[in-house]
Amino acid sequence: MDGTERNPKKIFAPTDEAISRAAEIIRNGGLVAFPTETVYGLGADALNDGAIRKIFKAKGRPADNPLILHVTNMREASLYAVLNDAAENLMERFWPGPLTIVLYSRGNVPLAARAGLDTVALRSPMNPIALSLIKMSGTPIAAPSANRSGRPSPTTAEAVWDDLRDGVDMILDGGSTAIGVESTVVDATGGNISILRPGGVTREMLETIADVVQGEGANRRRSPGTSHRHYAPAVEIRLWEYEGIKIFQNAGKWCYVGMRIPPDGFMKSILFDTLEDYARGLFSALRELESCGASVIIADLPDGAGLGEAIKNRLLHAAGRI
Ligand code: TXA
Ligand code: MG
Repeated sequence: MDGTERNPKKIFAPTDEAISRAAEIIRNGGLVAFPTETVYGLGADALNDGAIRKIFKAKGRPADNPLILHVTNMREASLYAVLNDAAENLMERFWPGPLTIVLYSRGNVPLAARAGLDTVALRSPMNPIALSLIKMSGTPIAAPSANRSGRPSPTTAEAVWDDLRDGVDMILDGGSTAIGVESTVVDATGGNISILRPGGVTREMLETIADVVQGEGANRRRSPGTSHRHYAPAVEIRLWEYEGIKIFQNAGKWCYVGMRIPPDGFMKSILFDTLEDYARGLFSALRELESCGASVIIADLPDGAGLGEAIKNRLLHAAGRI
């Protein structure tokens, strides 16, 4: 590829020319990492079985974890999934945006992308680079988060490069992502909606337009990805809430991330003022702390309201508590 020698990191500013080259890579079955409003995605032609397999290989992703198809609008979604009233309402209200909707699949989505399920996950991202890449590619783009499987999701082009290297053909650099945690995944296959993964669209936002079913029976259709170890840096994460004050006794080589001001003694602390800032900065904070020489990262769980539900979910996963 042109310029690779001068730019061994394969990172390109998102000019029209670069996006057009990226679209060509997608059409030819290659892999392009691109920014969305949530996190960076590792994209491939969703209708090309071989390209999808490359995604699983590059990430080291278990084959039983299906991918999200990224489209530009509801009409395009209807080519790949069977829509219903609930889904259409959600799309009208929250697309483009950080909401992924699971629906029954039509026969034209390769089995590898949906990990053999009869459903498919669809989302229209609110990021002009992503939307223009999908349009220019002329195909839906299957894209998981662009991290090695199990690691924190990347919120910058550099984080993608650190994880994937040879596993990606090109990285479009859109700067730091706006939301920082992944999209909310909902199951809308029935008339009701249940949340499979909390994310950028909060439960409270969903409840303004739909009945969100909870508890017994609500999550019969699980998100396969939610049972794997996830979002974890190389350094052990412990949660302040679970361990109590004893964890601070030997805080010398430990780091901290959270919203509450911690006791003294940490080698490094990253503090956020608002839930929005915490969500936006969480994954890059985990990556930064893992490389600063700490042996343990102490994280502070926010309460579960609003974006706090998604942050809490990611931290519980990272600490191995889900
Ligand atoms: O914000 C996001 O959603 C980012 C950006 C790139 O769009 N993508 C992302 O993809 O987080 P990934 O693969 O890391 O997470 C997708 C989640 C997984 O938990 C997966 O199991 C679930 O969506 N999923 C995908 N297809 C599904 C399906 N048919 N049924 C249930 N869950 C599904
Ligand atoms: Mg992921």
